[in-house]
Amino acid sequence: MIPTIIVKADLCSKCAICVQECPGKLFIQISKDSFPEAHDLEFCNSCGHCAAICPKDAIVHSGFPQGYIQPVNQKNLPSQEGVLELLRTRRSTRAFQDKFVEKQQIERIIDAARFAPTSHNTQTTRYIVVQNKKTLEEMVRATTNLISGSVTKARNPLMKPLISMSLGKHSGAFFKSIPQLKRLVALVKSGTDRILRNAPALIIFHADERSAMADINAQLAIQNAALMAYSLGLGSFYTGYILAACQRDKSICRLINLPENHKVYGGLAIGYPKFEFKKWIERKPPEVSWL
Ligand SMILES: Cc1cc2nc3c(=O)[nH]c(=O)nc-3n(C[C@H](O)[C@H](O)[C@H](O)COP(=O)(O)O)c2cc1C
Repeated sequence: MIPTIIVKADLCSKCAICVQECPGKLFIQISKDSFPEAHDLEFCNSCGHCAAICPKDAIVHSGFPQGYIQPVNQKNLPSQEGVLELLRTRRSTRAFQDKFVEKQQIERIIDAARFAPTSHNTQTTRYIVVQNKKTLEEMVRATTNLISGSVTKARNPLMKPLISMSLGKHSGAFFKSIPQLKRLVALVKSGTDRILRNAPALIIFHADERSAMADINAQLAIQNAALMAYSLGLGSFYTGYILAACQRDKSICRLINLPENHKVYGGLAIGYPKFEFKKWIERKPPEVSWL
């Protein structure tokens, strides 16, 4: 829907910050003495920059009714040390307490996820929360069967060239990972969940596959979610195996009622951690080219 944008003459100071900030360059101010006006609104992606930046609250955007524009609470912003500490100390959690994750906690995590940047502010990511133990177990079983099947295929000399062709440049990594995958399958079959690690909750991030950049949008949402989970005292890890299985096997998508035309772009296993990391570990130094 094409929005409407009104610049209130009684409030506008003609500072023209909206002109500079609008990513679509939709605001025009003819001279320093005139009020800015928004044009070509069919190109507005309703990001809200204009309304959020206006120091006089002079911009009324139809996409942001009462309550949609909130003042920044400076008191709540973390210090740069705080941000760095959060980023350094977040770890993937793979040992979870057998404890239900409350709905409010998951809602908070999803609330944080939706504030991630999205291409052209399309906000494409949708969420499926799986807490049903049976469904989680079925997802683990189906994922393991898929991995087991691909390992069996890879051992067949007739299949090898076909696999190489379909995986292209990723085939080397796949063949190298076969011993690890075999071990993973054996562990799951002997009762050790190496896929979801007995996490009591799983958030699936999905979107209409016809949306441009939906994959990248989802990845950014996932990291927001992981950081929020951490700050709530929850642990999480990115469920890569589940992602790969959902992208290859429609039956797993049916288990989670994935809507038609939607694709799974990621998943986050969540639960209360059994243990607390008291130390953080240094990473490789960054390889940077300065031009
Ligand atoms: C694309 C991707 C897929 C991943 N898949 C899994 C997975 O299936 N299982 C798992 O336990 N961890 C998975 N991880 C977590 C990584 O192993 C982990 O982020 C990495 O070892 C660094 O550790 P940290 O998250 O504690 O910093 C995945 C991470 C990413 C980014």
